[in-house]
Amino acid sequence: MKLFLLLLLALPFAARAAVELSSACPPSFELLGDGTCQLRTLYDLYDSPEQHGGVQARLPEVKRRYTPQQIDLGRQLFFDPLLSANKDLSCASCHQPDKGFADGRGRGLGARQADGRRKELARGAPSLWNVTFLTRLMWDGRAETLEQQAMLPLFNPDEMGNTAERLQRDLDATPAYAPLFRQAFGENPSVGAVARALSAFQSSLVSFNSRYDRYAYGDTGALSEQEVRGYNVFRGFVARCSQCHIPPLFSDSELAVIGSPALPGKAADPGAGALSADPALMGAFRVPTLRNITRTAPYFHAGQFGNLKDVVSFYNDNRGHAAPAGEQLKIHWHIHMTRGPELSDQDVSDIVAFLDSLEDESMAPRIPQNVPSGLAVEAALKMEKP
Ligand code: HEC
Ligand code: HEC
Repeated sequence: MKLFLLLLLALPFAARAAVELSSACPPSFELLGDGTCQLRTLYDLYDSPEQHGGVQARLPEVKRRYTPQQIDLGRQLFFDPLLSANKDLSCASCHQPDKGFADGRGRGLGARQADGRRKELARGAPSLWNVTFLTRLMWDGRAETLEQQAMLPLFNPDEMGNTAERLQRDLDATPAYAPLFRQAFGENPSVGAVARALSAFQSSLVSFNSRYDRYAYGDTGALSEQEVRGYNVFRGFVARCSQCHIPPLFSDSELAVIGSPALPGKAADPGAGALSADPALMGAFRVPTLRNITRTAPYFHAGQFGNLKDVVSFYNDNRGHAAPAGEQLKIHWHIHMTRGPELSDQDVSDIVAFLDSLEDESMAPRIPQNVPSGLAVEAALKMEKP
């Protein structure tokens, strides 16, 4: 009896000290015979999965599947400030779960500089919901896979400011990580395995149970009358939103020049134009998803618009009108018209109402209480102001 009590008392401490990796797939994923997790959504249940571009279009195949342990190790790493040079930023500092995995800022705040202030980045942190389906990543499309992408914030001096050598050293100096990497990948901690684990975790950030999805599945009562009207304008030939924000991902992963405004007093961001000699890419940005868009204001690559009504008005006023003066932009043919689509105020409000129906955070991951490094998860999550 005494021994039992002692065990009972000791248990919470033991549980706190050692981080255990989950052996279960995240919600909405099914464990397959090969030990990996396969996504299951309403979209697997349609009768007409081949229907292209329609409301019931099938989700693209996800090429890589991960084990529960890889996903869970990624979750620990995503929230662990150990990954940054100053040990004060985690991925979640800029991709916060309660802000749609963005940070509520027009432009991200990065590493602390010599003057003690945090560096303000040129662009804002995009949402990470459904990010595993995108074939181009970053606002200018400069990464193709999540593994590649992870190297960018880790080793950018303005962001997490780390180096591969220091990250390896810090992982090696954190004994709690070694067994977890071996469990997840059968190998010791390495920068490559960090990237794979982060990719695994991000592949679990899925959002396909919104009211819109239920409507697409045939539950006509899932949307209000106004939202149905908004959806019809959204996909209609006049507004053409769904030509680029294609359901069910609400992004086609393409680069498009829509004449985004520059921030007041700032030079225009060339977007993909900075990476290519092709003049057609000047001012092009990767089409962002609109999933959970109500959670991620302000909008556009540098937070140019504070709310969704202003975004829709941007598309409605003479198209291309906001393009930075003096820029020779080849505005996309779904945008470029002599006049705007002349949507009524009602149409604009209806589209905004429809965008609300894309909210679904039911599969949000749990935020770890403590991470293997023992560093403070919460402090990095609620990164202090500049
Ligand atoms: C200091 C803030 C900050 C930190 C820390 C940060 N990010 Fe980001 N993240 C951004 C910004 C800003 C962008 C967009 C940059 C661009 O497009 O030029 C971005 C883009 C991304 C994208 C591309 C999303 C898309 O839709 O294309 C992914 C994926 C991502 N980050 C994952 C991560 C991961 C994983 C980590 C941790 C290793 C991380 N981020 C750390 C600010 C941050
Ligand atoms: C030609 C392709 C295209 C069309 C058509 C289009 N968009 Fe976009 N949309 C984009 C691109 C590209 C961006 C990112 C622009 C930037 O950041 O500078 C964007 C950004 C957005 C954003 C902000 C997303 C975020 O995370 O900041 C919203 C909301 C939006 N579009 C809604 C709409 C609506 C509503 C319509 C129809 C009236 C529409 N779009 C038509 C390409 C398009």
